Amino acid sequence: HEIDAKQYNADKGEFKHYMLKEIYEQPDAVARTLEMAIDNAETSKLRDDFLQRHETQLAAIRNVQVIACGTSYHAGMVAKYWFENLTRLPCSVEVASEFRYRNPVVVDNSLVICISQSGETADTLSALRDTQKQNPAGLVSLALCNVPTSSLVRETDIFLPTLAGPEIGVASTKAFTTQLAALMLLVLKIGVTQSRIDNQRLTTLLGELQKLPGQLYASLHLDADIKAMSESFEDKKSCLFLGRGLQFPIALEGALKLKEISYIHAEGYAAGELKHGPLALVDKDMPIVVLAPKDSMFDKLKANMQEVHARHGELFIFASESSKMLAEERMHVVYVPDVCETLAPIVYSVPVQLLSYHVAVMRGTDVDQPRNLAKSVTVE
Ligand code: G6P
Repeated sequence: HEIDAKQYNADKGEFKHYMLKEIYEQPDAVARTLEMAIDNAETSKLRDDFLQRHETQLAAIRNVQVIACGTSYHAGMVAKYWFENLTRLPCSVEVASEFRYRNPVVVDNSLVICISQSGETADTLSALRDTQKQNPAGLVSLALCNVPTSSLVRETDIFLPTLAGPEIGVASTKAFTTQLAALMLLVLKIGVTQSRIDNQRLTTLLGELQKLPGQLYASLHLDADIKAMSESFEDKKSCLFLGRGLQFPIALEGALKLKEISYIHAEGYAAGELKHGPLALVDKDMPIVVLAPKDSMFDKLKANMQEVHARHGELFIFASESSKMLAEERMHVVYVPDVCETLAPIVYSVPVQLLSYHVAVMRGTDVDQPRNLAKSVTVE
């Protein structure tokens, strides 16, 4: 399944920036990643050869510890919700730069998942080595990584590739959505191996996963609407991204993308925390982006949106059509293709990427190589 970097057409082609090209590659990159575990001709189970060599190791794990940095950390946050919901296995997620300088307790039979596009991030590698030094019984380490030849892959027991192909834009896009797709496959594999997921749920999720490339493709059609929306952000100093549940990590990722490439200060918040601080910031000059699929948290989120609106905040809402959200004064709505609640974070990643991209282009920043940032942080 490996993609030869040399064969990859690294030319931007019709795209103005690598970032935009990479955003548009996501339906294919995710489809390729899913094919590692899903056979299009046999859609009711995972492929027999998916992580087959590691079944004994995966059968024994009782706890999951995710370690990562930046965008990869946000993928880990989504995985936590999935592990807890679908397998009832406890899962902690931590940024590597904190994990490595605490004295973290790694319990026996832990699966340590290191998520990294590059596989060379210094903090992530160090955190991995620290857990290995502790050497708890039954420790299994896994690299979820986009570079098969990386240090991280060499130093872990299991390699789960993201088949994103080379990612050149400093701001991660297709690496993120393929990380999410691969994490879902891993959750399913562990769930099935440990009989924590029943056949019906598995079949349903596999069916939903197969729709994913099409939904990602459909979400790219929002590009023109989002470009129009981005004009409202051009002269702004600060911006808030809100989400709840599985969309909370996407709110964080949306804020990270915006600050990385447009240099607008942005914060991602769990919408339920509004009253504990950010509500004080709300005024007509701070745009508020809301990730609002019609899911189990939607009614609560709607109440949060009303709180903001009542304080003269201007809302930019990504919602599903079934949410029946309608545009009104200071409330802009873009409809995202319908997707099941579990997989919605993957699809809702696209509109926040496109929004950041267009705001950055409008502000004339160096989109692919933002100031002060590096693609791979190999020193502390
Ligand atoms: C840098 C990059 C980010 C990336 C982070 C972690 O900050 O600019 O895009 O998310 O490093 O990198 P990794 O290669 O470990 O995923």
